[in-house]
Amino acid sequence: MLFFIDTANLDQIKEANDLGILDGVTTNPSLMAKEGITGQANIIKHYVDICNIVDGPVSAEVISTDFNGIIEEGKRLADLHDNIVVKVPMIKDGIKAIAWFTEHDIATNCTLVFSAGQAILAAKAGATFLSPFIGRVDDTNWDGVSLIKDIAEIYAIQGYETSILAASVRNSKHIVDCAKAGADVVTCPLSAILGLLKHPLTDIGLEQFLADHQKAAK
Ligand code: E4P
Repeated sequence: MLFFIDTANLDQIKEANDLGILDGVTTNPSLMAKEGITGQANIIKHYVDICNIVDGPVSAEVISTDFNGIIEEGKRLADLHDNIVVKVPMIKDGIKAIAWFTEHDIATNCTLVFSAGQAILAAKAGATFLSPFIGRVDDTNWDGVSLIKDIAEIYAIQGYETSILAASVRNSKHIVDCAKAGADVVTCPLSAILGLLKHPLTDIGLEQFLADHQKAAK
C-alpha cells in the first residue's frame, strides 16, 4: 500500500518525505485555503513547490464543475509537472472529463466518492485513482472501511485497474484497516502516519535496553 500525505503544508510534506516512506501528496481546495494559498499564481507556485519536494503523484483539484472548464483547468494543472494528477469531483461532467483525460493520457483522481456505484463509474471512465472518503462516511454512522472492502472486491472481480486511494483518513487505525481492506493507497494527515510509530512497550523496552547497556558499561 502506498502512503500519500493529505496536506498542502510544505513543512509537513518535508517531514513525511524525510521519513523515507512517502509516495505522494493529495491536496484539495480546503487544504490549500488552510495554508492561506490564494490567487492563481500562488496556487500554481505551491503545486510546483510540492512537486519539487516529493517524487510521486501530487493531486491538484480543479474547481470548475462544467466539462469544458474541467478540461481547460486540468490541462493547465497537468502541464505544471509530470507528477501532477488532476483531481476531479464525482459529478456527471467530472466523469465525462475523466474519460477525456484517460483518452489523452492525463492522470486523474476521482474525488468525493461515497458509494460502490460511484466507484464503478469512475473505473469505467479510466480514473487513475479513486478517492473514497472513509472518515466522512464514518461521520454519517456508516462504515468507511467496509466501503473500501466492497470496492476492492468489485475491482478485483471486474479487473478494473483504477487504484483505490483511501481518503479522509482520520487516525492510525484507519491506515491499518485500509491495508486489510485492500486499499492500494492511503492518504493521511502527518499525525496519523506518525501515530503508527507509537506503542508503549516499544518505549519501555528501549528504555530498559539503554539502561542495561549503561549498567554493563560501568
Ligand atoms: C483527499 O483527497 C481528501 O480531499 C481529504 O482526505 C478529505 O479529508 P477530510 O474529510 O478530512 O476533509
